[in-house]
Amino acid sequence: MLSTMASSNSHGQDSSYFLGLQVYEKSPFDEVVNPTGIIQMGLAENQLSFDLVESWLRKNPDAMGLKKDGESVFRELALFQDYHGLPAFKNELVEYMAKIRGNKVKFDPKNLVLAAGATSANETLIFCLANRGEALLLPTPYYPGFDRDLKWRTGVEIVPVHCSSSNGFRITRLALEEAYERAQKLHLKVKGVLITNPSNPLGTTMTRDELNQLITFAIAKNIHVISDEVFSGTVFDFPGFISIIEAARDRNLENTDVWSRIHIVYSLSKDLGLPGFRVGMIYSNNETVISSATKMSSFGLVSSQTQYLLSNMLANKKFTSKYMKENQKRLKRRKEMLVSGLKKAGIECLKGNAGLFCWVDMRHLLSSNIFEAETELWKKILCEVGLNISPGASCHCTEPGWFRVCFANMSHQTLQVAMQRIKDFAERSSCSGIGKSYQQNMSSFRRKLLTSNWVRKLSSSDRDEQER
Ligand SMILES: Cc1ncc(COP(=O)(O)O)c(C=O)c1O
Repeated sequence: MLSTMASSNSHGQDSSYFLGLQVYEKSPFDEVVNPTGIIQMGLAENQLSFDLVESWLRKNPDAMGLKKDGESVFRELALFQDYHGLPAFKNELVEYMAKIRGNKVKFDPKNLVLAAGATSANETLIFCLANRGEALLLPTPYYPGFDRDLKWRTGVEIVPVHCSSSNGFRITRLALEEAYERAQKLHLKVKGVLITNPSNPLGTTMTRDELNQLITFAIAKNIHVISDEVFSGTVFDFPGFISIIEAARDRNLENTDVWSRIHIVYSLSKDLGLPGFRVGMIYSNNETVISSATKMSSFGLVSSQTQYLLSNMLANKKFTSKYMKENQKRLKRRKEMLVSGLKKAGIECLKGNAGLFCWVDMRHLLSSNIFEAETELWKKILCEVGLNISPGASCHCTEPGWFRVCFANMSHQTLQVAMQRIKDFAERSSCSGIGKSYQQNMSSFRRKLLTSNWVRKLSSSDRDEQER
């Protein structure tokens, strides 16, 4: 009944990442109404600085009321549908992007294409760069949504670059070469390598050496580099953030071929905490890419109302400076709270300096060193402990036992409850001995969950992926 593409399973909907979100929906935690419900720690949302945005909105009613100097601009905005976007908005966006990068790089609004979030920006860019059946290299672990965003409708294949815990999941030249060769053996033409910097799910920024290595690799193989920098404004600790464009410029590559093969994807979903506003963009020094991506952007424009509101907000430099600084401070505090809470439960995290999540090492809680054991542990944490976290398999991690845990989408009190639950769980696990069946009095809801179709389906698709 459906088209082959619509029914193809490359969307990744059956991954434990998406299934965890669905299970959560059945009984979301609420301190008052549902205190035994599931706490959502699988969503990379930033709710820590909403008060700052709300305060700006209260002080600037004209922007929300679609007015300029007291006069309505409603009619103008209601009719505006130019797919190049509002010039004032694009000017503010490039200034904001530069500010996040410490004004070390300048961006030209002519090289910017707006899209409905980074989701749409990534797909559009891949559609422009690669043909069906061609490949992109992606370092693992990677954001679970990429299977949907990069592969599903474009028909492009993802070839993982296997990174390992032995060096903190850093990208090495060897791992890049190995992935490239694997693609060639599969007769897949490699069109580019896509990174997330800062990394989702690792919560780390890439070093200059890593970026240089990547650029050198892209020069050698004559391929594109796509840097998804949606978390660039969340860097809250040393070492700071270096954009791919800054690294390339510092090597004086502006007048070389590779300059036109470097592209950035960005959005306001994470740094400003506005995923519902659907504001994303592609930045590229390649005129042809910009021109075809602009044509394609008709499929995912940003509403002129949103552009108007945000161009006013971003034009207020005092506000953006205060927001960036305060937001990073709050993220740092939150992250520390999570790390110390997990430590009390005997659980360590990868050292990170960015993002809205931690990459958490629970290998010691596995009954054995296999992905089935990871799924088993994940089900317990979801259904018995009541925390929705994302197992490493959903991020295509090659080592079982790692989990992504988000910390910026809940209140301080909720995080405290989550930390208490995980501590109790770790204690119970060590008492009963890892691997023994878990004897806890589950609420009838959780018991039902464990035997429901939802959970039975859980992550068999992740495992299939790992075994491939
Ligand atoms: C690395 C990465 N890219 C893109 C996205 C999608 O962002 P958006 O909400 O702007 O579509 C996400 C969302 O979590 C992400 O983590």
